[in-house]
Amino acid sequence: MHRRIIAPGALAAASLLLAIPASAASFSPGAPGIGDPYYPAYGNGGYDVSHYDLRLRYQPATDELEGTATILARTTQDLSRFDLDFLLDVSEVRVNGAKAAFAASGQHELEITPKTPLPKGTPVTVVVRYSGVPSTKSAYGFSTWHRTPDGAVAADEPEAAWWWFPSNDHPLDKATYDVSVAVPDGTQVISNGTLQSTSSRLGWTRWNWRENKPQATYLATLAVGGFDITTSTSDGGVPVVNAYSKDLGDNDGAARASVERTGELVDWLSGYFGPYPFASAGGYVPNTTTGFALETQTRVYYSPRQFANGSNTSVVVHELAHQWYGDSVSIEGWKDIWLNEGFARYAQWLWSEHEGDGTTRELADYVYAAHPADDPFWTVAPGDPGPDNQFSAAVYDRGALAVQALREEVGDDAFFAILKGWPQEHAYGNASVADFRAYAERVSGTSLSALFDTWLFEPSKPAAPAARDASVARSSAAVAQPKSWKKIAATNDVH
Ligand code: TRP
Ligand code: ZN
Repeated sequence: MHRRIIAPGALAAASLLLAIPASAASFSPGAPGIGDPYYPAYGNGGYDVSHYDLRLRYQPATDELEGTATILARTTQDLSRFDLDFLLDVSEVRVNGAKAAFAASGQHELEITPKTPLPKGTPVTVVVRYSGVPSTKSAYGFSTWHRTPDGAVAADEPEAAWWWFPSNDHPLDKATYDVSVAVPDGTQVISNGTLQSTSSRLGWTRWNWRENKPQATYLATLAVGGFDITTSTSDGGVPVVNAYSKDLGDNDGAARASVERTGELVDWLSGYFGPYPFASAGGYVPNTTTGFALETQTRVYYSPRQFANGSNTSVVVHELAHQWYGDSVSIEGWKDIWLNEGFARYAQWLWSEHEGDGTTRELADYVYAAHPADDPFWTVAPGDPGPDNQFSAAVYDRGALAVQALREEVGDDAFFAILKGWPQEHAYGNASVADFRAYAERVSGTSLSALFDTWLFEPSKPAAPAARDASVARSSAAVAQPKSWKKIAATNDVH
């Protein structure tokens, strides 16, 4: 029990304190990182962005990018100074209209000191004028700006924004985007969301893209080059915009035979995950040489190499599943990556089952048996894999095993209710593995702490799920390789 007794003296002291005007001393610099233990310098503290307006010009011949970013934010503390994450050359910064001092600091920080300190909870408009040749910039010794023979692509994880716009670069700070890029006439620009318009003047064509739902910075993408753009609408009413480099060579047919099925696959996934969360869907295949695919919001990035063996609907399913698991519901910190990759991999298993290429149970048995107990695969805990193993096979495959184990524990009714309910529960927001466990427990009415510890957090091979002991008394050698396994393995190449 606590009795509220306020001595007259204390009361006088309190009112004295209140009478003191907020002094500049209470204003302090925002932290140079948002507080993610995997990447302490990523993102920033002290403010929250609601919108990025990027008005840029790009010359593919020279890789010169220039323009203005206008950032709408709100302060979350009394702020004397704050950082943006950025690598290009800045010529001017204005904060609420007034010129601000700025300096590069650390590996990728732009440190901004406004003329007047910014009180907590107030709106701030930051204008950054900049230019640079992104391919000449690196941080920590790497670059994620990908040049192509006729342009460039910004698509990477967990960091891609530093090379093309200043940002609070962490999934926790989601915002809407207008991306407007002028390029020489005859060149195309691909970005997220809906193409609002194009206009041509003085030999340059400006492409205006808009993403009107909150988007994590790593899911913002830009591609410039010669693209063939296709548009359609899915049966379920989702507008689809796809783009193919005009230079895909032998991969062109297989790329189109896969990515043109986006509308069908979005509708199919909606059956499991609920309504598609965005106003547009699609993908693009630039003429890059790296092997990845990435779930860039509404407009998935596919390396042409994903289609080197013919059509690959599995990778399309994986990236589209991320639109619910990863893009609409974003992770709270990078340790929560299982919420993205475990479920995107599981969606591939559901698709395999749909295609008659092995049931989810068969695929789970296969993966389980394919890794003997002494395989280092089992030393990675998908629920907190560490930055070095963030995209290791364990996050994907053991991650999907954890999803299957959950299904077997709670039963199909509760499982599919969870699968569909979760994207609604946290639509357009952020959530953690702990939040997911609490949600699954609530929907299923079952305590899941042992199951989660076993499949997501213990650095060793779990015993086969109890539910299966009776029906699956087979030796690992007896587990047949499902037909679809080769294809999944081939694309296991992180995507
Ligand atoms: N999230 C991607 C996927 O699963 C995989 C990925 C991890 C990636 N790191 C990347 C893709 C870097 C491109 C670049 O779809
Ligand atoms: Zn993925």
